[in-house]
Parts: sequence; C-alpha cells; structure tokens
Amino acid sequence: MAVIHAMKIVTAKAVTLVKNNLEFNELELELKEYAKEHKVPIIFDEGLSFLEAIIRTKRPINILEIGTAIGYSAIRMARASGSNVYSIERDLNMYNLAIENIKRAGLDNKIHIIFKDALLAFDDVKDIKFDLIFIDAAKAQYHKFFDLYTPLLNENGVVVCDNMLFHGLVEDKDNIENYSRSVRGLIRKLNEFHESLLNNSDYDTAIYDIGDGMSISVKK
Ligand SMILES: C[S@@+](CC[C@H](N)C(=O)[O-])C[C@H]1O[C@@H](n2cnc3c(N)ncnc32)[C@H](O)[C@@H]1O
Repeated sequence: MAVIHAMKIVTAKAVTLVKNNLEFNELELELKEYAKEHKVPIIFDEGLSFLEAIIRTKRPINILEIGTAIGYSAIRMARASGSNVYSIERDLNMYNLAIENIKRAGLDNKIHIIFKDALLAFDDVKDIKFDLIFIDAAKAQYHKFFDLYTPLLNENGVVVCDNMLFHGLVEDKDNIENYSRSVRGLIRKLNEFHESLLNNSDYDTAIYDIGDGMSISVKK
C-alpha cells in the first residue's frame, strides 16, 4: 500500500489490507451487482474497508456524505456504527433508488437523504455538528465541498475523500498530455485539492493508495 504525503509516495509494504474482512448481506450484494450492471460508481471494497475502520474507531454520532448514488455507502456506514447519516444527492433517479434501498435496509430512521446539489444544501444541515464528512461526488468540486461543509465539523472530526487518485491518473504526470481536455482539467483540480489539503495547517492529512485513492484529514 502506498501512502502519499506532501506529494511523495512512500511504499509501506508492511501494511497489507485484508480485503476479506468485509461481509455483505443479501441487499448489499444486490446493490453491488446493480452498480456494476448499471455503471453506477460506488466505493471500492478496499476503500470501504478503510472507511469502515475509521468509523469503527471514531464512532461518529453524525456523518455527512456528499454523493449518495444508490445509497450503498450510506447503508454500510450506518450499519458499521449506528451513526446518523445525512447524505446529499442531486440526481433524481439516484435519489429515488437510494430512498427505496434505505427503506429496504430498514435504515430510514438513521439515513436522511437530501435531494439537492451539495453546493446548495448547506442550509439543510447547518444546525448539525458532524464527526465525519465523506466526500464522494463531483471531483472538480471537492475543494468547494470541503470549504463549505468543514465549518460543521466537530473538534477532532475527520474528512474522508474518495477517488483522490482518479484511477491512477493523478499520479500519471508523465502522460497527462494523452488525456482529453476535460480529464486534464479534473486531474489539475484534484492535484490542486491535494496540495491545499496537505498545506492546510488546521488538518493533518494523508492520502492513501487504497481503492481509487482515499484521503483522511483529521481536524487538529
Ligand atoms: C461516486 S457516486 C457516490 C457513490 C456512493 N457514495 C457509494 O459509494 O455508494 C457520486 C454521486 O454524487 C452525485 N453528485 C455529484 N456531484 C454532486 C453534487 N454537486 N451534489 C450532489 N450530488 C452530487 C452523483 O449524482 C453521484 O450519484
């Protein structure tokens, strides 16, 4: 597993992620299958394992998720901790599927989905203090999501971001010219976000080569 810090990759060979520590119930297996079939990007098993380890250690009371999709990670996070999960989704089809799936999981008392663009949903959650914020939506907007929602983070709260290495493209600097303009734009934005996180003196941040790249920023 590689740990990326201050834009350097340190290979931590001693750390091995045990993928098999995840157990899935029937509904979750169905959601994974649905996501695969319909090309809905949900969190990779490795990333989920990492996220759930953080959740079990931190035992957050309230979690904010940006990017619900079909409700898969929200369901897993609520199951891992018994936390209240507030999750924001802007796509109506995804929102409807998430509502249905969360009901089927029997977690509609724990998971609250907000149907809005996350950049416009601050007022919906502004009175809640969060122990964990999970950012898993439009990559170009990660910086804006971070700035908008971290004022709601409790002391010692954590922010976890998925897709930080964007299928390895963020680290593939030598071949950047081979990608389309829009992909290059995304890579540039993610790189800027990496730098801003690593230089943010209010947070301790590490970016891990797990799943599609996961960062964890702990509020000092
Ligand atoms: C990667 S998927 C989320 C996967 C989910 N967290 C999981 O692992 O099960 C990203 C979702 O974020 C939503 N999204 C993207 N940008 C958004 C925004 N600005 N506000 C709200 N939702 C957004 C997309 O519609 C998509 O459903």
